[in-house]
Amino acid sequence: MLSVVPQPISARVPAKVNLHLAVGDLRPDGYHELTTVFQALSLHDTVTVVRAADQHRAEPTVRVSGEGAADVPADTSNLAARAVLALAERYDRIPAVDIAISKDIPVAGGMAGGSADAAAALVATAALWKLDAPRAELLEIAAGLGSDVPFCLLGGTALGVGRGEQLVRVLSRGPFHWVLALAREGLSTPAVFREIDDLRAVGAPPRAGAADDLIAALATGDPHRVAQHLANDLQAAALSLQPGLRRTLRAGVEAGALAGIVSGSGPTCAFLCADGEAAVAVGSELAGAGVCRTVRVASGPVPGAHLLDEQAQG
Ligand code: C5P
Repeated sequence: MLSVVPQPISARVPAKVNLHLAVGDLRPDGYHELTTVFQALSLHDTVTVVRAADQHRAEPTVRVSGEGAADVPADTSNLAARAVLALAERYDRIPAVDIAISKDIPVAGGMAGGSADAAAALVATAALWKLDAPRAELLEIAAGLGSDVPFCLLGGTALGVGRGEQLVRVLSRGPFHWVLALAREGLSTPAVFREIDDLRAVGAPPRAGAADDLIAALATGDPHRVAQHLANDLQAAALSLQPGLRRTLRAGVEAGALAGIVSGSGPTCAFLCADGEAAVAVGSELAGAGVCRTVRVASGPVPGAHLLDEQAQG
């Protein structure tokens, strides 16, 4: 009898940074109304899916390796597993899939690591099952999984409104060069949103407002102009929960970055640099400054979640 060896399929997915993150009011559903500009950066996770030996098994399995793997759930609470379950439900499949996640995106770092894995799992599993799923359908499933998952599918640079899941592409003449300072301890996104509500109840932390100036700056491709308009309402909350991040932000600018910002809900700090050479110099200086766990150099914008062999084809 001929036995068929199951063919694994891999998708690669970028991290995100929010160049502008204006947090509005708390909605009745527990989410905040956002106006945000995302950029996808060249720091990637890879998610590989393969048919399970038991094709009747009702749940996916999850294995995690790489950056922060010990802190990532390896069961069906993992967002990548939930992505496979959501896709199976929509297309009436049995989710008998083994998922392997190779991480380079920091865990609980404000760079959408979990959401990225969900987006990659959607793309890889849709290919595994040969679903030919329309992009719009994947984006809808993605939005049901988490606010950042649609952007992880889309990639590039985009304006997000609503929970952050309603996206329009933004013209960005890149590449922009970034240094990322990864923290020792993660931050919980819901805790950071709660903290901004608490800070606003007793004071008036800065508000980012509209994103128009940043969007205009991105179109010029001039990192000096973009640097003047980076803004993140969650930064005050992240700094309140991890005061040591102030030192990290200062150290990056002293090392020669044009500007530094907490990425999303933090605690990763993202530093925009004048060019690739400056980013390498800032990165090595920051690595020696003892203000973070480790440093990465990345550029953006880059494409969203895509099959690995698609990339090989260019
Ligand atoms: O959508 P996601 O599950 O990634 O969001 C994680 C948490 O972040 C939410 O449960 C909520 O506490 C907070 N959040 C928010 N407003 C948003 C997005 C996320 O309050 N627009």
